[in-house]
Amino acid sequence: MIELKSVSKTYGGRIKAVDNMSLDIDSGCIYGFLGPNGAGKTTTIKLITGIIKPDGGTILVDGDDVQKDPLAVKKNIGFVPDDPNIFLRLKGIEYLSFMADIYDVGSGDREQAISELARRFEMSNALGDRIQSYSHGMRQKIVIMGALLHKPKVWILDEPMTGLDPKSAFELKTMMREHADEGNTVFFSTHVLEVAEKVCDKVAVVGSGHILFAGSIHDMKKSGDASLEKMFLEMTQNA
Ligand SMILES: Nc1ncnc2c1ncn2[C@@H]1O[C@H](COP(=O)(O)OP(=O)(O)OP(=O)(O)O)[C@@H](O)[C@H]1O
Ligand SMILES: [Mg+2]
Repeated sequence: MIELKSVSKTYGGRIKAVDNMSLDIDSGCIYGFLGPNGAGKTTTIKLITGIIKPDGGTILVDGDDVQKDPLAVKKNIGFVPDDPNIFLRLKGIEYLSFMADIYDVGSGDREQAISELARRFEMSNALGDRIQSYSHGMRQKIVIMGALLHKPKVWILDEPMTGLDPKSAFELKTMMREHADEGNTVFFSTHVLEVAEKVCDKVAVVGSGHILFAGSIHDMKKSGDASLEKMFLEMTQNA
């Protein structure tokens, strides 16, 4: 469960990226975060993960306050950033070991988690190569693997499907469903409305730093007799 209460963030004293936002992101469901380019999705995600600080408001992740107890929150979170081009000089396995060290994953657990994730994402043969030599999708997969190694309860994924081939995207969606069904939190941003429609139990639509809608896809479509795409375009055009 993630709770945002009246959260704001302004960049450079003028761009209000997140404007007095309140949102409850329930656990036990897959929660999608939709909105046009520049709407404030990545900024909101960076605020939840403690990468940047809000100007005002409170953020709780499974009851822990991000500002008061950032370490407790970070231990609980598996975060996939929107840019997978990180630690390019490391080999895949070195990056995963580094992430396992940071999150204090013991050697037995780490070996098991790495081989399971590598199997699911078909990355076993690439772990000995440098990330620099990886394709975009492979970089995305190694970042996802690194984020999930410590078996975090709360998954926060910023456009995680970008660049994934159909098999890997399917695998990730399956993992998201399994994780949510176990009662955990899965929150991810996407531009692909078909993915949102198929995968999400609930969505929030953001425009200009405001929540325009939060609820089930079913309810979003109920408020007008149209496709999700049409609803989205109508909702966001004036924001
Ligand atoms: N580091 C920054 N410095 C200044 N302005 C920023 C910074 N990061 C984001 N912004 C601005 O904040 C607003 C929200 O950006 P954000 O990256 O949160 O949008 P987004 O919804 O993730 O967009 P996209 O769909 O393109 O990823 C935009 O107006 C953007 O220009
Ligand atoms: Mg973004």
